[in-house]
Amino acid sequence: MRSLSVVLFALLAGIGMVDTAMAAGGADVLQQQCSSCHALTKPADASLDRLWERKGPDLYYAGVKFNREWLEAWLQNPTTIRPGGVMYAKVVKASADKTADTIDASKLTAHIKLNKADAGAAADALMKLGTDLDLVQKGAFKNGAPGPMAKMLFSKLRGCSSCHSAKEGSGGQSGPELADAGSRLQPDFMVAYINNPQKFDPHIWMPTLGLTDADVQKLTGYLITLKTAEAK
Ligand code: HEC
Ligand code: HEC
Repeated sequence: MRSLSVVLFALLAGIGMVDTAMAAGGADVLQQQCSSCHALTKPADASLDRLWERKGPDLYYAGVKFNREWLEAWLQNPTTIRPGGVMYAKVVKASADKTADTIDASKLTAHIKLNKADAGAAADALMKLGTDLDLVQKGAFKNGAPGPMAKMLFSKLRGCSSCHSAKEGSGGQSGPELADAGSRLQPDFMVAYINNPQKFDPHIWMPTLGLTDADVQKLTGYLITLKTAEAK
């Protein structure tokens, strides 16, 4: 009897009627290999201490934040997104004359790499997180042209580049790099985040800037054009 069910399982798996163990394991991969550093559900403790102590950025809203293809590729070949780590204040060394802060790279470690199957499964599981939370409004990005002033808004007028770089090696280092924001992030998420970063974490140090919707649309329109070389 037992051998019969084994044969039957192998047969069904072979013709794709049941998921193979690997493909079904995305949620397990997250629990076992990721939850020590990343919040996978909304933290009950929303204190500044929690933010200070976290070892990686929150993933509890990954499903409304990331593009799936980017996740699958990045998890196999992770690159630096936050030049100053997840908590900039812990790795920055102020220069004596205070003009140029530098990053203490010895405090940063390389990210875990997944094989293709695990990366795909983890990406699928991540895309389910936060879709029920009402953090991001569908259709918030109106898809208009960014307009000629958008880049200027980012780099000069609205001060985004004091914390974010839109090009490798330029711009601030205390926020995530946005040089491939168009590949990495969903447009509606960018609108929601730029409008109200504290909705995602009450203590995150990106300020709520009180921008007009027109400015937020232009900024998001500009960020969407920033893509990795491979994705262009
Ligand atoms: C030792 C702690 C640690 C573990 C374990 C870990 N991560 Fe990370 N993760 C980080 C840090 C730190 C960053 C920020 C890297 C950066 O911004 O350059 C990060 C970034 C990420 C990002 C990009 C987040 C963003 O907001 O841009 C994703 C996605 C991610 N991790 C997924 C995973 C998955 C999936 C696993 C499990 C397979 C995992 N991580 C395991 C520490 C960890
Ligand atoms: C004082 C520094 C600061 C300024 C100024 C700032 N940001 Fe941020 N920004 C951050 C930090 C910190 C995060 C969140 C990092 C995290 O979750 O680890 C963030 C996150 C984001 C994200 C989400 C990306 C991600 O990977 O989580 C977007 C999009 C963004 N900022 C756009 C902007 C734009 C557009 C402006 C200008 C209007 C701006 N920011 C101004 C610090 C800043």
